[in-house]
Amino acid sequence: MVFGVLSSNDKNFNNNNRVIQSWYLIAKSKDIKPLTAKTFNILKRKITIYRNTKGIIHALDSRCPHLGADLGLGKVIDCRLQCPFHHWTINEKGNCFSKNNKDTKLKSRIYPTQEKYGYIWIFNGPKPLFEIPEPPKNRNLSILKSPSQEIKCHPHIVTANAIDAPHFASLHKLRFTSKPTSKTERPFKVITEMNGYLGSKLFQKLIGVNKENPIKVISSTIGGNMAWLDITKPYKFNVLFTTKQSNKNTCITNVFFFLPKNLNYIRALLAVHNLLHDDRKILDTLNFHPGFSKEDKAFKELYDIVNKMECW
Ligand code: FES
Ligand SMILES: [Fe+2]
Repeated sequence: MVFGVLSSNDKNFNNNNRVIQSWYLIAKSKDIKPLTAKTFNILKRKITIYRNTKGIIHALDSRCPHLGADLGLGKVIDCRLQCPFHHWTINEKGNCFSKNNKDTKLKSRIYPTQEKYGYIWIFNGPKPLFEIPEPPKNRNLSILKSPSQEIKCHPHIVTANAIDAPHFASLHKLRFTSKPTSKTERPFKVITEMNGYLGSKLFQKLIGVNKENPIKVISSTIGGNMAWLDITKPYKFNVLFTTKQSNKNTCITNVFFFLPKNLNYIRALLAVHNLLHDDRKILDTLNFHPGFSKEDKAFKELYDIVNKMECW
């Protein structure tokens, strides 16, 4: 009997050797004070983030284009980052100047950045391919972030959870009041719509959702590491899931809740918590295999999208 050899993963999906181009949450805004720089060992690279004299955040490869010193040890002078070793400077376009201010023609790789929801985000590609999702502008919302969590699987798997309608029925015991639907908005979005309620009478009471008053969730994945939940019934709120690979090949998740000021927070948090807490033990031990069935259309769409994305 011949046993097949497990092939190495040549796809992007669930591949720890690749990081797909997307927005990644790096640090709290308040962690990078004006005129300071710091190097982060993230997404399999070393990235330096600094805040210039105008308070604007920039990100670049941490290695100085001269001889490779860590730019995170440098100083911010005017709008340039000065390397600590021979005092060459790098401007916001990544151009590198010698100590006597001559353009060396050497370049640092720079990355798009944003500050949103109190955090610094970088896009690990030359220019953003999509935006970080945000709730409608005209609503008076509170933003809550739950503490970061580490899950022992790839971020793509955690992201897929948001649009995996079949598992909401089997694992989370959600009873659908209509058949879940899904669609793809190429090149980066998979959208699943679910309407249903939880079987447990206790939870029906706690979160105010039942057969007559089901929850309506439109759940979208953006790229391969973010998911946006648009909950429209029985109360309106949004949830943003963001994930990233850790250096130990686990997944760090950060979840933001966008809640109307008059909403009973506990209910909204309980609703999401109840849907998610059972995932933990499955995801921590999952050894992914793409044995998709017809029911897994949305998951397969995400898989195809991620496999076509640019990465580093
Ligand atoms: S290594 Fe940075 S200036 Fe020399
Ligand atoms: Fe789940």
